[in-house]
Amino acid sequence: MDSVKTQWYKNAIIYQIYPRSFKDSNGDGIGDLRGIIEKLDYIKSLGVNAVWLSPCYKSPNADNGYDISDYRDIMEDFGTMKDWKEMISGMHERGIRLIMDLVVNHTSDEHYWFKESRKSKDNPYRDYYIWRKGRGKNGKKPPNNWTSRFGGSAWKYDKTTGEWYMHLWAEKQPDLNWDNPKVREEVQNLVKFWLDLGVDGFRCDVITYISKVVNPDGTIPDGKYRVGIRGDEMFTHGPHIHEYLHELYEKVLSKYDCMTVGEAANVTLKEALLYTGEGREELDTVFMFEHMETDMFMQVIPKKFNLKKFKAVQTRWQEGLFGKAWNSLYYENHDQVRSLGRFTGKVGDKGKEAAKMLAVSYQLLQGTPYVYQGQELGMPNYKFTKIEEMRDQLALNIWNMVKFIPFMKPIFLKIMNGRSRDQGRLPMCWDASEYAGFSTVEPWLMVHPIHTEINVEAEEKDEDSVLNFYRQLIALRKGVYANTIKNGRYKEHYPKRKDIYVFERSFKGETILVICNFKNKEAKFKVPESISPENHQLILSNYKGERPLADMTLKPYEALVYSIKQ
Ligand code: NOJ
Repeated sequence: MDSVKTQWYKNAIIYQIYPRSFKDSNGDGIGDLRGIIEKLDYIKSLGVNAVWLSPCYKSPNADNGYDISDYRDIMEDFGTMKDWKEMISGMHERGIRLIMDLVVNHTSDEHYWFKESRKSKDNPYRDYYIWRKGRGKNGKKPPNNWTSRFGGSAWKYDKTTGEWYMHLWAEKQPDLNWDNPKVREEVQNLVKFWLDLGVDGFRCDVITYISKVVNPDGTIPDGKYRVGIRGDEMFTHGPHIHEYLHELYEKVLSKYDCMTVGEAANVTLKEALLYTGEGREELDTVFMFEHMETDMFMQVIPKKFNLKKFKAVQTRWQEGLFGKAWNSLYYENHDQVRSLGRFTGKVGDKGKEAAKMLAVSYQLLQGTPYVYQGQELGMPNYKFTKIEEMRDQLALNIWNMVKFIPFMKPIFLKIMNGRSRDQGRLPMCWDASEYAGFSTVEPWLMVHPIHTEINVEAEEKDEDSVLNFYRQLIALRKGVYANTIKNGRYKEHYPKRKDIYVFERSFKGETILVICNFKNKEAKFKVPESISPENHQLILSNYKGERPLADMTLKPYEALVYSIKQ
């Protein structure tokens, strides 16, 4: 282990803030940094010890800040560098570390580099991006068949020079050319810039896409033909990815006690070990996606939740990374719908017990747990009834493609209710007032009508709330059971059951046994034969009352956590 590296993230619980939707301090309907400053004591009260802040850099907002036009400045909607400095000091004073989003697969087309790059073929910044001649007569067809994650070709024709540039996301998000050493140096410098300002780490946006397959003659090959997304296999975990990440580690990250977590769509366990294996010196952890099961057609049609498959994925990752690399644990973020309903029942379902059970089912696994704003309240999904209620560019682009098909609207709304990124982005509910205490004016995205019932103020007063349960659970991770939760070997029981998830974590004579009923009905539980329950203690549960460890009938969505001295 590197001398400056304490691997503090292994003891961390990280709270994700999507700044646009967290708290508006200046009455413009948009969350901002001063809003975060106002809520630092709340964040501290959760017991978390780090925050991942989604992008707050200067951006024209084609993709809510994931399109950066200046990496060294703050978006006007969010405030100023002075506010940012006050925010990070406030966090550090409270023992909370700050992880910033690092979005370097692409920039905004309004970034200085791109503005220069598109001017002429011999501009010094030309090679910062991926420009190619078109195909077909007069080069009017895109250079290859890759598709953008936002729909349509991954190439945009630019008439100034008559060439095309690559954008794996929106047109306004041109991909950087990581094969250019100058680009890599720029990235190293900006990472250093933020680390020197005190940042404690980075969540690395779509980092597995940065290296693309290029033919020896400079052309970029077609991807396999398939409906929906094309080209994935040519740019996910591309040819130089490990070399580039190692270089970033060696030149910058290794010199700071910081952490990195890479967003790694489509990552397999084997690949994750290459990114994060101890001693690989690339990333510290990745967010895998297998348990989120989203990619069918253009990653939009949600699959029906299948607990047996879900458990098999969690188990494979728990066992596969054990002793070799570190996991990231999550159910929600700004790109996903709320876990409540998604993993338990139907869109729109709410319920304290289910929300608490879900929390138990992932936070006691090995790895660093993430809690996404509002998850700690048990926020349910919203049933969108109108297209006009939606803001997410991804959803709106798809709507524009399909809106001509007769009777499409209700189908589209149904799909989006189970998939739309807006679900997780609805403003944080602080109280029951008109705009949920998020803002004094109508916010940029509607407030969930349930805010009159589910909000921080109400849950603070209710001893039995989801919020207070999260606090207990987080405290548990940090208290006397911390070592077992951090180091314990994972073992799953009853993998074939479709209703309950049972696993244990064992370390130095102690076993933590976790029992979760994922169904809204009773389920039979038998104490696993390998466990001798004599010396046990119930350390957490989502229903009141004694629950001695024995064969029993679990209540709907019941979650039980025992400590057993073996
Ligand atoms: C992943 C981010 O989480 C998502 O919100 C964004 O649209 C894409 N990367 C592009 O940066």
